Amino acid sequence: MNPRLRALQPYPFERLNALLGDCTPADRPPINLGIGEPRHATPPVIRDTLAGNLDGLGGYAATGGTPALRQTICAWIQRRFGIADGALEPDQHVLPVAGTREALFAIAQTILSGEPGARVLMPNPCYQIYEGAALMAGAAPWYLATTAASGYIPDLDAVPEGVWQACELVYICSPGNPTGAVLPAAWQRQLIALADRFDFVIASDECYSELYPDEDHPPTGLLEVCAAMGRTDFRRCLAFHSLSKRSNAPGLRSGFVAGDAGLLRAFLQYRTYQGCAMPLQTQAASRAAWEDEAHVVHNRARYRGKFDRALATLTPALDVDRPDAGFYLWPRTPIDDVTFARALYEQENVRVLPGSYLSREVDGVNPGAGHVRMALVAEEAECDEAMQRIRRFVENLKT
Ligand SMILES: Cc1ncc(COP(=O)(O)O)c(C=O)c1O
Repeated sequence: MNPRLRALQPYPFERLNALLGDCTPADRPPINLGIGEPRHATPPVIRDTLAGNLDGLGGYAATGGTPALRQTICAWIQRRFGIADGALEPDQHVLPVAGTREALFAIAQTILSGEPGARVLMPNPCYQIYEGAALMAGAAPWYLATTAASGYIPDLDAVPEGVWQACELVYICSPGNPTGAVLPAAWQRQLIALADRFDFVIASDECYSELYPDEDHPPTGLLEVCAAMGRTDFRRCLAFHSLSKRSNAPGLRSGFVAGDAGLLRAFLQYRTYQGCAMPLQTQAASRAAWEDEAHVVHNRARYRGKFDRALATLTPALDVDRPDAGFYLWPRTPIDDVTFARALYEQENVRVLPGSYLSREVDGVNPGAGHVRMALVAEEAECDEAMQRIRRFVENLKT
């Protein structure tokens, strides 16, 4: 057995199940805000195109995807991020992936040298796949704390020079899970300058980039920052996108990675062996999804309404901000986050994820502690009901 498997941490949901296993929840309908799985309906354009292309079941797909899909994705990136037409070459700058999760994991196996002491930097708290990817490739994670004090933006100046020297890959997540923070363009430029200086790759997880509150201010992306710097070879930079959240299609398993052509050539070679070509019918449905923005605008409007009502209900009781983007609330808890999650489940039958389960303790500090993550993924009425119950729970704590 591969001994590195032993280094993998239990998934936060397993820890939550263990925490709540012996509790008896209040006798009211259960509401789960713990899992970040989109629950709005998958739009008809995706369902119909998938169903209309089942002939694809009869053929093997190429790992690099069809030229038509790559063309559609390049056009989407250029439109969405205001990058000049033709700046991305469909044959060089993009690859389809089976959702960002597998690609974020696999990129580490492609990039990392396996040299002892190699470092992979990642936010803390973060999506646990980054950590597992680093560990399975034999590298040591280095955690970049994201706390309220710094607006949930990691402090690059706090990283020791020796860590930068050992760094081969940095994962960033913008908008962040769980914090919702969008990394400012200036911060991304600073990271790109460090990547050039210390020769590492930036993997930017942008799977929440299409869920934002203000139609006029979509979150900045890494490739957009590169293009604005005149860095049209996107050197050392890769952006990961997904239809799971944008288009309410987590079961489609569809996304893409785009950026540095040399890195993508190596990644394509790795992926050919890994065997993760996107099925032809999924490619057809994905093209239809990337070509349609109407359902995404509608989706955003629904999240905006849920956030407006949730914040109106919660803010008198709980210390909580509107996130820059994404679908999570990341309130600060008036009591320890694990106790909060357990008591909320017992008293109101609402599941939330303790922030400390999403983070690692470094030098005695767990930067996720004192927060819980609430995913506003359910239908409006269920979210509204959850917020009422949470408010009542918090008010009862104070009495
Ligand atoms: C930060 C982050 N990245 C990546 C993913 C993976 O999403 P998918 O593989 O569906 O694209 C998730 C899923 O919850 C996530 O929260």
